[in-house]
Amino acid sequence: MPRKITENTTYVGHIDWEIRHFHGEQLSTYHGTSYNSYLIQDGAKTALVDTVWGPYSKEFIAKLQRTVGIENIDYMIALHGEPDHSQALSDVMAIKPDLPIYCTENATRSLKGFHHKDWDFHTIKTGDTLDLGNGKFTFVEAPMLHWPDQMMAYYDRDKILFSSDPFGHHFASDQLFTDKVDASSLIYESVKYYANIVSPYSAMVIKKLKEFAMLNLPLEMIAPAHGLIWRKVNTDLILKKYAEWADNFKKDKITIVYDTMYESTRKLAIALGEGIREADRSVEIRLFNSSLNDIADINTQIFASKGVLFGSPTYNSGVLNSTAGILEELKGFRFTGKKAAAFGSYGWAPMSVKIIAQKLRDANFQLFEPEGLSVNWNPTEEKLAEARKFGADFAKFCNE
Ligand code: FEO
Repeated sequence: MPRKITENTTYVGHIDWEIRHFHGEQLSTYHGTSYNSYLIQDGAKTALVDTVWGPYSKEFIAKLQRTVGIENIDYMIALHGEPDHSQALSDVMAIKPDLPIYCTENATRSLKGFHHKDWDFHTIKTGDTLDLGNGKFTFVEAPMLHWPDQMMAYYDRDKILFSSDPFGHHFASDQLFTDKVDASSLIYESVKYYANIVSPYSAMVIKKLKEFAMLNLPLEMIAPAHGLIWRKVNTDLILKKYAEWADNFKKDKITIVYDTMYESTRKLAIALGEGIREADRSVEIRLFNSSLNDIADINTQIFASKGVLFGSPTYNSGVLNSTAGILEELKGFRFTGKKAAAFGSYGWAPMSVKIIAQKLRDANFQLFEPEGLSVNWNPTEEKLAEARKFGADFAKFCNE
């Protein structure tokens, strides 16, 4: 149902209560999500900011027809070409084929690439404006947040920043505003979103936050493309969080991620944790069997850690599937300022620890003991004591 956010701005997006995985099956979304679209009825002119994902296009079109009538929309603002925000655009354009679309140069590529249509594109650059009669949009390019085609749009009459993916969260709620829902769930979903989607582009986040601050625009709301709207009461909170998350974020936490076949690597994981605790009484220690836990949640824990111990037994001269999957994701995230070490058991050839250590190097971790901790067969008491010492030394290394 359309919901008024302000006198001029109406929420016309789709709340997806059912989705449990996003980006195919890559990212868990236990709290659902939303595909946010906003209708700005400024007086003389009307603009639509983004559309929704294809499966919900029919409901979206019906909602727009009820609310405004698509013929009466004057401008389409496409902040980003990814299908979760643009797939319903084809159905909007089928009703009003001459609707001008304002987007970045790169978004003309992504939108043409997905829709195969040569619509009336108007490309924008940072600082360009679009006058609606009473208020106006100011556009800010935001490449790599999270695609090269991204931009943000500031509507001065309501002092709303339509931020696209940044500041979003996969969180379904009909409350509209972030200050009306459980704060700890919301912040968890926000940091999970940052770790799994935004973190590879942290340098750009820092740059954009500075650029936006320099524009000195009064801000009442940040309206992202997923989840709920940040109001004046907490816009500073999420801006501060983004500044923290973008800047080598880490807590006093060490995460141990392992997979195991016959308990040997699991025993090492436990012993490593005991060693860490002996050396550091206050650090938070979390253990995750990577085959039993959700990968996006593990990534989030790693993002918040100062150190990570990563283990797998050797399996067919390699590592187990769950280990390989996480290491591949970590390479893409390029987390910064984190320390790590590899461990694992083997029967016939000590391969897994070498492979994990190399993958951790490739993923930008600073390695402790490049050779890692490799144990043959079932660890003896002596080997478990060695693992405890390894854990204790790693804890000290993380505090250096
Ligand atoms: Fe929610 Fe990058 O799209």
